Order: sequence, then C-alpha cells, then structure tokens
Amino acid sequence: MTTDHETLANLLKEDRRFEPPADLAAAANVSGDAYEHAAKDPGAFWAEQAERLTWAEKWDTVLDDSNPPFFKWFTGGKLNASYNCVDRHVEAGRGDKVALHWVGEPEGDTRDITYAQLKDEVSQAANALTELGVETGDRVAIYMPMIPEAIVAMLACARIGAPHTVVFGGFSADALASRIDDCQAKVIITSDGGYRRGAPSALKPAVDEARTKTSVVEKVLVVRRTGQDLGENGWDDDVDVWWHDAVGSASTEHTPEAFDAEHPLYVMYTSGTTGKPKGILHTTGGYLVGTSYTHHAVFDLKPETDVYWCTADIGWVTGHSYIVYGPLANGATQVLYEGTPDSPERGRWWQIIEQYGVTIFYTAPTAIRSFMKQGREIPDQRDMSSLRLLGSVGEPINPEAYIWYRNTIGGDRTPVVDTWWQTETGMIMISPLPGVTAGKPGSAMTPIPGVSADVVDDDGNPVPNGSGGYLVVTAPWPSMLRTLWGDDDRYVDTYWSRFKKQGYYFAGDGAKKDSDGDIWVLGRVDDVMNVSGHRLSTTEIESALVSHPKVAEAAVVGATDPDTGQAVVAYVILRENAGDGGADIVKELSDHVRKEIGPIAKPRQIMIVPELPKTRSGKIMRRLLRDVAEKREVGDVTTLADSGIMDLISAGQATSTED
Ligand code: WT7
Repeated sequence: MTTDHETLANLLKEDRRFEPPADLAAAANVSGDAYEHAAKDPGAFWAEQAERLTWAEKWDTVLDDSNPPFFKWFTGGKLNASYNCVDRHVEAGRGDKVALHWVGEPEGDTRDITYAQLKDEVSQAANALTELGVETGDRVAIYMPMIPEAIVAMLACARIGAPHTVVFGGFSADALASRIDDCQAKVIITSDGGYRRGAPSALKPAVDEARTKTSVVEKVLVVRRTGQDLGENGWDDDVDVWWHDAVGSASTEHTPEAFDAEHPLYVMYTSGTTGKPKGILHTTGGYLVGTSYTHHAVFDLKPETDVYWCTADIGWVTGHSYIVYGPLANGATQVLYEGTPDSPERGRWWQIIEQYGVTIFYTAPTAIRSFMKQGREIPDQRDMSSLRLLGSVGEPINPEAYIWYRNTIGGDRTPVVDTWWQTETGMIMISPLPGVTAGKPGSAMTPIPGVSADVVDDDGNPVPNGSGGYLVVTAPWPSMLRTLWGDDDRYVDTYWSRFKKQGYYFAGDGAKKDSDGDIWVLGRVDDVMNVSGHRLSTTEIESALVSHPKVAEAAVVGATDPDTGQAVVAYVILRENAGDGGADIVKELSDHVRKEIGPIAKPRQIMIVPELPKTRSGKIMRRLLRDVAEKREVGDVTTLADSGIMDLISAGQATSTED
C-alpha cells in the first residue's frame, strides 16, 4: 500500500491554493449551499436532480435499500436513456445545435453532427439492430475507434434496451472474446479499422479471431472507416453486415420505449485482483441522474455557450459517463477526436482547442506528464484563451503536473478539477466544485454534494485529520454499480465485505485527510495497478505469462513510472526444459502478453529470475519485488522463506530488458 509516511510527509508540504475565479463563482451552476442542502436529506436531493431528466413515468421510491448491498434507485420510474440524450433536445427546439464536432485523425477529416442528425442516425441504428434480431435485454458488444458511429451504436443499444458492452479497441482478440463470452453478446458492432498515428489500424481481424473463440456471436455490424483491405477470409456473408447497408437503409423513425429505471444500461469490464475481469453493471435511471448532475455541477456546463472536450476513449468508463451519457443528457456541444495526441504534429490537441474554441477540457495526468516532457513551446503556439475549466481523472495528479496544466494549458486562469471516481461508481464522487472550492494541487478535496465518503482505519473508524487509511463510500449513490454481471457473490465480496459491519463500500484505494479534512487519494491498496489511468490486475498479467509454454511461474508488480504513473514489471521463472529461454525470450514473453491482453498490458521490464521471494506459506512478497523494480533498497526480508533470493534478484542475476 502506498500510504507510506514519506508520501504523506511530501504531500503535507503542498500549500498552494487556487481560489475560484470571481466570474465563474458568480455564475456557477452549483454554489456552496448545495453541500448542506444535500446532506440534510440526500434522498430528496437526488430526487431533485432526477428532475433534470425526462421520465415517461415518475418513480415511487428514490432509494430502495431493503436488500443491501443490492440497492435500487428510482424504482417504479420509467425512462429511455437515448431519448434523454437526443430526442428531447430536438423536441425542445435545439435540433440544429451541434452535438459532436468530430475530428478524425487525418487532417481535414471532420464532421459536425447536430442533435437532429444524431436523432436520425440513432433511430436508424436502433431499427437496424432490431432487424438483426437484437431484442430488449440482449447484450451487444461494441469494439470501435473514436468515430461518431461508436456513440450512435451505444445510444441505439440504449434505445432498444439492449445493454452494451464496449471493449476498448486496444484490447486483443482474446480479451474481446472473453468479454463477449462472459456476457453472451450476440451481436458485435465494429469497424474495418480506425486511424492511429497517421496510419489505418485494423479492428475487424481481431473480431474475426474472437469469433473463433466463442460461439455466441450471430451478427457483426461493420462500419467502413478506413476502407482497408479485409483480407482473403475477412468477410463472412452469413455473419458480417455493412453498417452503411443495414443502418443506411433503415428508417429514421423510431419510437423509444420507456424502460424501468433499473433496466441494465451497460456492462463495462474492469480489472480486479483475480485474473478474470469484472463485468460492472450499470442500470438506467440512477446512472443517468448521477452522470448528468455531476457533469453539470463539476464541469459547470453551460450548454448554450460551452464547447466541452473529454479526451477519454469510449472504451473506458470515462467515455461512457463523460462523453456519452452525462454530456448528451445535458445537451452539450462537444469535441470527439479519433486519434493520438501527437498526430500529425505534437500540438494536435492544442490546435483542436484553438480551432473549436474549447472551453472545458477533461484529460488524464499521464497525458499531462507527457506534454510536460515536450515543453511549453508546443502549446504556447496556440491561442487557448477560450478555456475556462480543466479537469483531471484516472490517477492522482502530481502537484507539479497540476501546476503545469493550470499554467501552461489554462493560462493561469482556469480552475483544475481533480475528479476521483471509478468504473464502479459510474460518476464523479470526490472533486472540487469549480465555483466553490479553492483547489489544492494533488487533492481531490471533498465528496460532491449528495455523496458521503470517508477515510477509515482497519476497523472502519474515520481517521483523524492528518492521517491515512482506506477510502470508503458510506452511503449508496444513484449511479453505483448494481452487481457484477453474473456474479452477485463476487460483488458482495469485493466491495462490501471489508467493512461489512458499517455497510461501507470499499473502493480499494488508500487516501489521507489533510489538516483541513480534504482528501488526497494515494492509489490502490490491492493487487491492482494503475497504468496510464487504466486498471490492470497483476494476476491477469501473471496468468497471461504462465500460459506461455516456457514459463513456470510469474510475479507482476506495478512500479512507479514517471510517464504512466505505474508500469508493469514482471519476474518470470522459466520451465526447466526451456533452458535459458533463448536469445529473444523477453521479447517473446512481451509479445505474448500483448497478444493475450493488449498493448496496454505490455511489461516495461521482464526479468528472468531463478526464484521468487515467498513467505513460508508460499505467498509471493510483491512488496520486495516492487522495491527492486523501483530500485529502492530492499525492505524487510525476515519473513522470507529463503532470504538469499532477494540478493540474487537485486544483484541483477537476471535477464532483463527495458523498452
Ligand atoms: C481508479 C479507478 C474513473 C475513471 C477513470 C479510471 C484511480 C481515478 C483518480 C483521481 C486519484 C484516481 C483510483 C481509482 N483514480 N481518479 N482523481 N485521483 N486516483 O477508472 O479504471 O475504474 O480506475 O483510478 O485508484 O480506484 P477505473
């Protein structure tokens, strides 16, 4: 766990404060009294926020807590998420307003899509899915680049009540297949490929390969994005359908059906402490209330004047909550960008901000750090005076990165909202309010109105200010996960057993409260790494390594990395019959992990070692391996079964590469 005293002491030295700009505070969507108002009666507060949406039938009960931790929100209520994100804006006379300024990676490849056009396309896609046999309750997998059709696909699924599971386009065929299998998705929506780093990058072959590993897929709907050659066996007439044929020919008329507030909206897979990813289930009403309220409150969105841009991929929860559902429910105009930040030039993001006059910008610390490295000359070439608010998410933002972000990108004018939340929470939970809170670089500050969170000790007692402990959420919130797909026991076990007595949700993060009681999130306390703001499980990567024929045993740790926050470092014992593994063993293993999970899980370093440090009961002591990976002096080894092993490993008796 990273709540060590050194970290705490360093953070305590941070005393810079940034007051909200007076004009922003004066016109802010949410003011300071919201905290007290919400605390007085959280149920009534969330019912008020639910009025932001259009309900076909009003709810009877705001929160049904009769069967914890299986909470239900807005029971009896009925609504359609797609109607709320699209149709109602058109009906209110805002059909000509741009919903998406889409920017493809190749220069000049852009599309502006109004709410009226979005409504037509979503309706067509909904009709096409129905035509392909998708019924309410069926799961649909989406494996796509950042093109408008990805959002259309998600909304079309929501429109017909078919929960989607979006799989990040960077995941491998194996990872895609296991997710499809787990939730039994009968249709996949994909594209031939997308543009990344100046070149077309194929997706369809991975879908074809995934289909050989699972038998549930009946149809594959394919957007033609790059026009690349699909290869000799790259099209199966019985299964594959072009989007432009099926969706293009469908009617633009579609009446959205109202679904129960607790109807499943989507399943999003995320890493846990075991090898098997967890299917986080979000439902409709509470999720939409939570994402739309937080988007309004934390980003202070003024739909008529703001241009909002969240750089996340739709394959992660950030894309779901703060590109698709929150912003569109709020009628925002936003930028959607397909490619990498540095293509064709290193200042591409800043050029887009200048070109579209982006006012609110939401990105991750890992990206900010990579821009810091390139220097301020690149962003300084652009006029970014339109920006009025910056956001950060995914991992703790280092104070220096925060200051750089605020100064260099925000011209020393813009507040930075450091937003803490998770795939499981669905919505932002701990964050400054930009018109209320004086920001502290490195602190996510306090729970937003309507949310109760705390930092507690081993026994679940709140720690005093100035101390560290476990981050918990102490009361249900509307956009909370409802369960893990097909695994209620694991849901209870993972999140609700650690502080069962108190009934707290355990987030898996360590945190501290400073002398003002503000929260500093310090990172994961379990065997989950955070690489570039994405969760990876050590066990999952270990299993991938062990599935290689030359590997006997593997231990994976997350080591602090200046660019990605944490990086994957693997220690591998080879099987005897593999000898020294051959000259290319490290590359071979690295490619294997890439194939099993995807490039994001590729180890920064693989060390071939003769032994692993274990306790007498056989538990791998990851803490010691982390010390070696971070090149620290190796800590206490007295509980090791064979304390000589660490000397061997530290002395570099290992084959290793970094790339
Ligand atoms: C984990 C959740 C929420 C969308 C992106 C990641 C870490 C997230 C912060 C923050 C410190 C943060 C936590 C959390 N995290 N935001 N502002 N400060 N840590 O979603 O993949 O579900 O990961 O990301 O460790 O538990 P996720």
